[in-house]
Amino acid sequence: MTSHPIGQAAKCPMNLGEVDLFAPGAQEHWFDAYRILHAEAPVYHIPGGGERPGTDAFILTKYEDIAAVVRDPKRFVTGDNSGFQEHEMEVFKERGFGDAAGAARTLRPTIEHHMQHRQQLTDPWVGAVGANRHREMITEVAEGLIDRWIDDGDVSFVPGFAKPLPQTVITKILGFPLEDMPMLREWEEAQVRRFVFGATHRSLLTPEEERRNAEILVQFQQYIQDRVTEKRRNPQDDMTTFLTQVRYGDDQRLLTDGEVISVVYGMHIGGNETTQYALTAQAQLLAQQPALFAELKADRSKVRAFVEESLRLLAPTQGLSSRTATEDTEFRGVKIPKGSLLHLRYGAGNRDEENFPQADQIDLERPTIGRHLTFSQGPRICPGAGLSRLEQTIAINLWLDRIEHWELTPGKNTLAHQPGIMLGLLELHLRFTKA
Ligand code: HEM
Repeated sequence: MTSHPIGQAAKCPMNLGEVDLFAPGAQEHWFDAYRILHAEAPVYHIPGGGERPGTDAFILTKYEDIAAVVRDPKRFVTGDNSGFQEHEMEVFKERGFGDAAGAARTLRPTIEHHMQHRQQLTDPWVGAVGANRHREMITEVAEGLIDRWIDDGDVSFVPGFAKPLPQTVITKILGFPLEDMPMLREWEEAQVRRFVFGATHRSLLTPEEERRNAEILVQFQQYIQDRVTEKRRNPQDDMTTFLTQVRYGDDQRLLTDGEVISVVYGMHIGGNETTQYALTAQAQLLAQQPALFAELKADRSKVRAFVEESLRLLAPTQGLSSRTATEDTEFRGVKIPKGSLLHLRYGAGNRDEENFPQADQIDLERPTIGRHLTFSQGPRICPGAGLSRLEQTIAINLWLDRIEHWELTPGKNTLAHQPGIMLGLLELHLRFTKA
């Protein structure tokens, strides 16, 4: 795999000429780069950077521009291949999973179907209201993880909490056996590989890497297919079973196996790393700001605001989404021809001073609290936001219950982030006294 060397320090950019959000190590200086882009090139042109030959790309960093794009799904569309890349799709087709990978086209050919997809298929399990059915389970899993290290006085927080919590939760929701988690993690890493190791604003793997990775993903699709077959025969109380039984759309039809696989596949990729990064960032912020930790401890009604502010400040999904313009348009005087690719920098929109004064600070009283772009907005807004917010809220309340004081363990933290387009600490070592 080509990789952006971890921990290699790209220089902090001092001017526009030095800004490259995708250079090795650039993730350590994104927030400085955003300030320069906001001031000098809020619509940053990458000639020839589009998906098709002869088209350009643009990086959008201003809040209002990004929000306008994601709220207008007719003028700004997502890619043709349900997010899969060309050679990846070839392998899926060769191995009999072309239908599963292309199910977005059969399940939601229009934006209206997209709403039905959400309301009928995912909301009951991971939406803001539906996720509540998992409250007790999430609390139990989180308590169990804390029990493992609470008497030790220090913890390696990523493997000790932030990684296993969302993974266990989504594994249980989908009704997969917990003993499969090591294998599921490997498949999940293959699912996000291009977002971590892909090059440029397009997260590109080489054709050979795409094909090799797709071979791993075919194993995962086969695994889901086996669970679907099993659950059609022997229904359980889980989301995969639900998807095999639900009546969908205006004609109330059952989903095909390929369609069930596609929804489960999406839940699995969404349900893991993003929430891991959010939890790690929240623990880092609270360990670095003891006054904030004490404030939340004293008044739990502020946890909700903290969840939103931390998601805004350290969005896991810094540069996750892109759209293609279906007609000529213009942002801030920059002409965007039809067919251009727009790389949406949610993390920069979240730090736009025009919308969030003193954007680099956590402000629990902010009037615009929660109006960040971390989950996107509009009809394609993240369907799992409800579940993720619930996991975060439960986790933070448990830290406040069970930890008296914590801090970064001296000498053990580099605070380096993984490469790619997401923001996630690779490690976080915390030293604490228990409550
Ligand atoms: C902190 C946690 C999370 C963040 C920041 C996040 C953010 C996002 C964003 C920005 C998108 C792209 C939306 C767009 O392009 O407009 C997205 C899509 C998606 N997310 Fe999440 N997400 C999180 C957690 C989850 C969870 C827990 C699940 C599932 C249980 C999930 C499932 C999905 C799925 C399936 C999509 C694709 C939706 C589609 O195809 O339209 N996400 N998420």
